[in-house]
Amino acid sequence: MSDVSERFIIRGGMVLSGTVQIRGSKNAASKAMIAALLTDEPCILENIPFSEEVAITRELCERIGSSVTYGDDHTCNIVTPRIREHSVLALSRRNRIPILAFGPLLARAGTAEVPFLGGDPIGHRPIDFHLEALTRMGATIERRERSYYATAPYLTGTDIEFPFPSVGATESVLLAGVLARGTTRIANVAIEPEVENLIAMLTAMGALITVEPEARRITIEGVQQLHGVRHRIIPDRNEAVSFAVASLATGGEITLQGATAAHLGSFVETIRATGGTMTELGDDMHFGQAQKWLTTDINTAPHPGFMTDWQQPLAVLLTQARGTSTIHETVYEDRLGYLKDLARMGADVSISDECPEGNPCRFSGRTFNHTARITGPAALQGTEIEITDIRAGMAHIIAALSARGESVISGTAHIDRGYEKLDERLRVLGADITRV
Ligand code: EPU
Repeated sequence: MSDVSERFIIRGGMVLSGTVQIRGSKNAASKAMIAALLTDEPCILENIPFSEEVAITRELCERIGSSVTYGDDHTCNIVTPRIREHSVLALSRRNRIPILAFGPLLARAGTAEVPFLGGDPIGHRPIDFHLEALTRMGATIERRERSYYATAPYLTGTDIEFPFPSVGATESVLLAGVLARGTTRIANVAIEPEVENLIAMLTAMGALITVEPEARRITIEGVQQLHGVRHRIIPDRNEAVSFAVASLATGGEITLQGATAAHLGSFVETIRATGGTMTELGDDMHFGQAQKWLTTDINTAPHPGFMTDWQQPLAVLLTQARGTSTIHETVYEDRLGYLKDLARMGADVSISDECPEGNPCRFSGRTFNHTARITGPAALQGTEIEITDIRAGMAHIIAALSARGESVISGTAHIDRGYEKLDERLRVLGADITRV
């Protein structure tokens, strides 16, 4: 675990340019590790990032009964001959992965107990879709003082429709449905590349899954058992966006090695609309400077829309565009809090609970501050900032890198949960960042 007293000292104003290798996706890797619990055969996962999220998930799997070893070159070998422990309470509130273990634990042990979830403070983040779906599939779930306790002699396929295309709930039902009896049909699913990556792994393990992305529908025919697999984790889209914006916001250009352009469509469109460039060079993506940055209006949305994890870094770039840009956050109700820190650094920002005119979302008429207006260009000044979540923290770091003067950023553990050795890799690009 990272030391909670650690801080980053950033002296801003350096141009970040060069080449960076994009690591495997945190949000795909942790789910693949959970999928490996579905079989007693070895699973080899390639392109695993060495982030804290993966370390926490490793601890979870080991508690359950897995033996996990890291090989060379970001490979992870995980085998779970038997379920030793169906209760993973000790990992309470460190991330959002334990809920996904319900499916594998119920399939192999008939019982599962997971703690209330942690993760970033970006909204209420209920898990009702997960619990309702598992209950419909035959699980009995009891809410205890600190946990959810579930039992099921077996799970049965059924028809499920999510009120919103939730990534986690889609993954939960996939992990539960693959070994359930009969057919599970899920409507209004999330079709994020991380979900597709999980489906590719489960299919290679012997699961029978049909996806209709346009219709947001998934059908799972339950099978009796799954086998081991060698599976590659997709590149981290959030890391790609973070590095691209860090470079562009400081006046640089950057080549992202091993990023998948097809997963970043709405981001690339936005960069081009604001005046920047993106050229594909084989598996690499090269982002170039705008002559001058232009304003834009963003609505975050489930994939293939503009991802909710990208608005925070982008906001820093928008402080440099002449005029007013809008960010309309429609996935999480409370994900704009970081903007008050950008305002302290000199950004001209206003936040409102009203949707942009003519563009209502499901938060319309409620009291969630989910629309931001950013007016630029603004000269940012370094300051002291406390990071409270991964993506907000990334915005703070990018703002500090592009600001005049020094910033002291505490709460580095949030960054380490999502990014492998971020400070070292930023330094290679020219950043003046030190961990103390
Ligand atoms: N929702 C419910 N009930 C549920 C589940 C979700 O109301 O049972 C709501 C949420 O409150 C939210 C919306 O549905 O308003 C979407 O949430 P989703 O379930 O899709 O999010 P998640 O699976 O908890 C993952 C990523 C997030 C990413 C979102 C959206 C992981 C571990 N986390 O969260 O990543 O922002 O999908 O793409 O995969 C991050 O990496 O920093 C991060 C927060």
